[in-house]
Amino acid sequence: MAIDSFDSAVDGLLADAQASLQSVDSLDALEAFRIQFTGAKNGALKSLQKLLGAVPPEHKPAAGKRFNQARETIEQLLTEATEKVSKASSGKPISSTGPLVDPTLPGLRPRIGVLHPITQTLEHLKEIMGRLGFNVTEGPEIEDEWHNFVALNIPEDHPARDPLDNFYLATAKTNLPKASTDTQSSGNSSGGDIAARLLRSQTSTVQIRVMESTPLPLRIISLGRVYRPDAPDATHFPMFHQMEGLWVDKNVTMAQLKSVLRLFATSYLGGDVNVRFRPSFFPFTEPSVEVDYWWNGQWIEFGGAGMIDPNVFAAVGIDPEQWSGFAFGLGVERLCMRRFGITDIRDLYRSDVRFLRQFAS
Ligand code: FA5
Repeated sequence: MAIDSFDSAVDGLLADAQASLQSVDSLDALEAFRIQFTGAKNGALKSLQKLLGAVPPEHKPAAGKRFNQARETIEQLLTEATEKVSKASSGKPISSTGPLVDPTLPGLRPRIGVLHPITQTLEHLKEIMGRLGFNVTEGPEIEDEWHNFVALNIPEDHPARDPLDNFYLATAKTNLPKASTDTQSSGNSSGGDIAARLLRSQTSTVQIRVMESTPLPLRIISLGRVYRPDAPDATHFPMFHQMEGLWVDKNVTMAQLKSVLRLFATSYLGGDVNVRFRPSFFPFTEPSVEVDYWWNGQWIEFGGAGMIDPNVFAAVGIDPEQWSGFAFGLGVERLCMRRFGITDIRDLYRSDVRFLRQFAS
């Protein structure tokens, strides 16, 4: 290409750019200007650069210089156009490179997860009981019959051990390795022989594990899942959570048990909550009570409690003449429902994020 032709191409491009600048009065027009003249693929400057390649070698230095000047001029024009539009849109800053954005517009908020209401409840319960001096401990969800029944004074023929009322694991009764999380003391011979395994039906199993392995006095809670083949309805689910509490010391009394449960209830549910203790029966406590809270115009059972039965102390090698204690087991879902105003336990486990998101903490 002759140098003259190249020079006229440069002149034409600059004249075009000047003319186009007159009509740039909006963000859209500015973007169109940018693409038309500086677009990386088909922009006018790109085309001019291609022509530069065809200029004879002896004219290349001069042509290259003109090309660079033209590019600077176009960039200058783009900056002017940007300022012009920026002023027109009441001084809001506009980027002259890359995509145009208005940083004053509200952003799109990314959806982040929230803690499940049961997780929130577990944390809250730990916090309240921690203030009452209870340490948190854990136990396995797969249990043996010793911890789930025998040591809790639930004999072989007790209806609570019926296979239809429990989730026994389909494993042979013999040659089973001991549960890896087993904390049972080696001194306890009867427990080691019991090989059948089941999903624990209550957190009272942890009472046994803790008393087997922890020096007295002790004051613990244990929170976790338990499993029962209960038909689901508004207040029952086959998997639910319990909070077990256990306090063993010299001279622990029923009055202390009631005080702890009342203090817990008012801390968790509010000062106006009504608590009722009903005489009841559990094989591992004597005397035993059911604990009810008043809710939605009726009494709702939240858990059971009582003084540790001497047979349970005997099973774990604690002298009931020297030590006394109480235990309680509360249904975590029912506590959570009471506090959040949830009326159907099944809603907690439908995995419907529209429902769960309401309980963002
Ligand atoms: C027990 O499980 C005893 N281990 C409690 C206990 C501990 C008594 C220590 C004495 C000493 P119960 O089966 O009543 O008790 O269950 C306790 C609570 O778990 C119930 O009050 C209820 O709130 C909750 N619960 C029971 N079954 C279900 C279920 N299917 N779905 C949801 N919550 C349940």
